[in-house]
Amino acid sequence: MIRFKQQRLALKGWLLTLVSGRLKLAAQRGAISRIDIFFLAIAWGNIGYAAGISYLRHVGERVLKSKGPILECGSGATTLLIATLTQTEQRQFVVFEHNLEWYRHLRQILKQLGFHHVKLIHAPLVDYGDFRWYKAPTLNRHPPFELVICDGPPGSIPGGRYGLLPIMGDQLSTSCLILLDDTHRKAERHIITSWRRQRCLRFNRLGYLGSYSEVEFC
Ligand SMILES: C[S@@+](CC[C@H](N)C(=O)[O-])C[C@H]1O[C@@H](n2cnc3c(N)ncnc32)[C@H](O)[C@@H]1O
Repeated sequence: MIRFKQQRLALKGWLLTLVSGRLKLAAQRGAISRIDIFFLAIAWGNIGYAAGISYLRHVGERVLKSKGPILECGSGATTLLIATLTQTEQRQFVVFEHNLEWYRHLRQILKQLGFHHVKLIHAPLVDYGDFRWYKAPTLNRHPPFELVICDGPPGSIPGGRYGLLPIMGDQLSTSCLILLDDTHRKAERHIITSWRRQRCLRFNRLGYLGSYSEVEFC
């Protein structure tokens, strides 16, 4: 069983290396095609949890257009995509992952693919009163984040992704762009409403049925 798991991981690593090579070429061209993203989605698998093709492509395009540090909450296919697109310039890329088993899986894959610039942090979920969110580590003298990929914690956790603004708000630059997935769901739309009670925000729903949103400070 262990041998089978290792073989499967080796195959996944090999497929992801191929996909990552294509994505690096796409980054040099400054445009990511649907087919590159499709190959990534196939190589990654994890259907039901991984980001959709359209959102993945949008994330990739935003990474290419942006400068500065990136924060991701909840790891997966997007982590591989961003790691690939930021590797050449060794851009700062911090990822919070609450699930220890999933964190170890991602850590192994990132290591296998040589993505040593990714700061993948195991951040268990803790209580912040009305909601739960990552136990955010102190990122000493870290420059403010310019882009956030907000895909976690899962919706089943009280507050879901809400904690980003109250907990990390002062570590986001005023020009930061937040990409929030799953805004076709009422809970995620409610998160934007709650954030807007705290800070002046602009938002734009994109994708089929507004399935993801861009949120910016006014
Ligand atoms: C929606 S997923 C993250 C999606 C990620 N941005 C992607 O593109 O794959 C959010 C969380 O679900 C959890 N997760 C991911 N895959 C899982 C699986 N197969 N089973 C259980 N939990 C999973 C992880 O803890 C992750 O942080």
